[in-house]
Amino acid sequence: MAVNLKGRSFLTLNDFTPEEIQYLLQLSKDLKAKKRMGIKGTALERKNIVLLFDKSSTRTRCAFETAAYEEGANVTYLTNSQFQVKESLEDSAKVLGRYYDGIEYRGFKQEVVEKLAQFSGVPVWNGLTDVDHPTQVLADFLTLQEKIPHKPLSNIKLVFTGDSRNNMAYALMYGAAKLGMHFVALGPEELSPDPEIMDNIQKYAEKTGAKIEYTDNVDIAVNKADAIYTDVWVSMGEDVDYAERAKLLEPYRVTAKMIQKTQNDNVLFMHCLPSYHDFETENAKKMKDQGIDIREVTDEIFRSRHSVVFDEAENRLHTIKAVMVATIS
Ligand code: CP
Ligand code: NVA
Repeated sequence: MAVNLKGRSFLTLNDFTPEEIQYLLQLSKDLKAKKRMGIKGTALERKNIVLLFDKSSTRTRCAFETAAYEEGANVTYLTNSQFQVKESLEDSAKVLGRYYDGIEYRGFKQEVVEKLAQFSGVPVWNGLTDVDHPTQVLADFLTLQEKIPHKPLSNIKLVFTGDSRNNMAYALMYGAAKLGMHFVALGPEELSPDPEIMDNIQKYAEKTGAKIEYTDNVDIAVNKADAIYTDVWVSMGEDVDYAERAKLLEPYRVTAKMIQKTQNDNVLFMHCLPSYHDFETENAKKMKDQGIDIREVTDEIFRSRHSVVFDEAENRLHTIKAVMVATIS
């Protein structure tokens, strides 16, 4: 049966079948090729989209805006609104649904994107919540396909190292389970994935042949990995003791030694970005002055031939465009 995603929200990959995810990846490739050929996009002409951000963003906001413009849509970046301050989520959603063809939301609770979708009556796209980041995973999987073209995603071993219960870890886990991949969450037990979420994911993994694991053992996890993925050690909105977090995660930093342990000379290094890989940012500098090394990856590996982080960042544009085109055009 042909895939048709018109009218659907994109809140989590858990809502999508493997065929639907593959369809979005193929559409992303087609739209990327079309842009490279200089062909003007018209798929979103006369469409209006609104972007709501309750957390900071560079890539997600810019990818949504440029992708929309490239296909002819009009964009509102909503700031200083009444949303959830002077007006309930339900009322704002109903109003926005009258003006817009699609709504992007980035914030804290997953419940907010779910309710926006429920009350607005138009497709809602999750631009990151505390527990998920599905548009990022599409970009990451497209990058894996491009960089390892001889292997289908179902043959890929992807290791996520670090805070294994953050939004990126869960988002990748959902995607990996759907596409039959071997996914290993690596990190200290204190930051291991929620057993209930793991259980749910395992149920799906049984159907697709995916292998979804958690371990705190670096050597076992990274052996023969195709890609090592990491993310910041403290996510937006978390109120934690940085010294304690850094101490817990220090053994899970991506270093040359970890890359060597994979025994795969062509292993990829992946990151959703933004990243602390040196001490050039105010935050990392401030931490360093307090004796805390917050880097989740060394600068050496971040800049090495293994690193595909800027390809992932570029692919945010093509994959977000595919999500919008598939759901509202
Ligand atoms: N990867 C990602 O979501 O980046 P931004 O926080 O800059 O949007
Ligand atoms: N885990 C990170 C991802 C940023 C794209 C955060 O939520 O801050």
